Amino acid sequence: MPFFNKRKINLDLNNMPKHVAFIMDGNGRWAKKRGLPRLVGHNAGTETLKRIVKESKKLGIPYVTFYAFSTENWKRPSDEVNGLMNILVKFIQSEINEIHENNIKVNILGDIDRLPDFAKEQVHFALELTAHNTEMQFNIALNYGGRDEIIRGIKLIHQDLLDGKILPDQIDEALFSNYLYTSGMPDPDLLIRTSGEVRLSNFLLWQLAYSEFSFEKVLWPDFDEMAFRNAIYEYQKRNRRFGSV
Ligand code: FPP
Repeated sequence: MPFFNKRKINLDLNNMPKHVAFIMDGNGRWAKKRGLPRLVGHNAGTETLKRIVKESKKLGIPYVTFYAFSTENWKRPSDEVNGLMNILVKFIQSEINEIHENNIKVNILGDIDRLPDFAKEQVHFALELTAHNTEMQFNIALNYGGRDEIIRGIKLIHQDLLDGKILPDQIDEALFSNYLYTSGMPDPDLLIRTSGEVRLSNFLLWQLAYSEFSFEKVLWPDFDEMAFRNAIYEYQKRNRRFGSV
């Protein structure tokens, strides 16, 4: 049965994206509109994140990636940076058992060494606990930057060349992909960015080369299952050619 009808959106189950990436933008504006501190917006955004992970699992999407903290986000006021780290820790503490019971594997894309110790500990705990789960991969981009990731990949590949593990002629796109945080994962089929901003903000620069983009007007805390299904519906209407005719 290729179609199913839930809340009036017919999704083609034979043409589901295998990997969806999200830029969760607009938490600050959502809070400001209500006269609330920005962190209230980030908390509301975390609720959306939970709902979207659940919905992704229901839809059978095997990889989801969320941009939670960029290499540039350290420039935000320290209250907001600390608040985001606290939200991350609270999120892991309250959700990790359910994530694990659902056979979901957590991965971090980004350099976690720079995180404060209390956050690093929780992140390592989540990674170890869920390392062997197989149903779905839940990637959190944390202290992540696309250019930073590519430079890191170049350094790693250079080291392998020096160590004689690879030869220069072996370097191609597939091999280079193995040196990125997303090694072994399919590239995102669909990128969703909320809040009406139309830019990539240094997110998955290599991996998004052939992805479909969906820029949504709605602020991230207001993004919901229906909006998500609608973005997938629009994606399914597109004709992906990957450079051919
Ligand atoms: C962008 O909105 C959002 C962020 C920089 C942080 C996103 C983080 C979360 C939703 C929560 C933490 C993540 C996990 C995994 C628990 P913005 O603040 O730039 O919004 P604005 O553009 O309206 O100011």
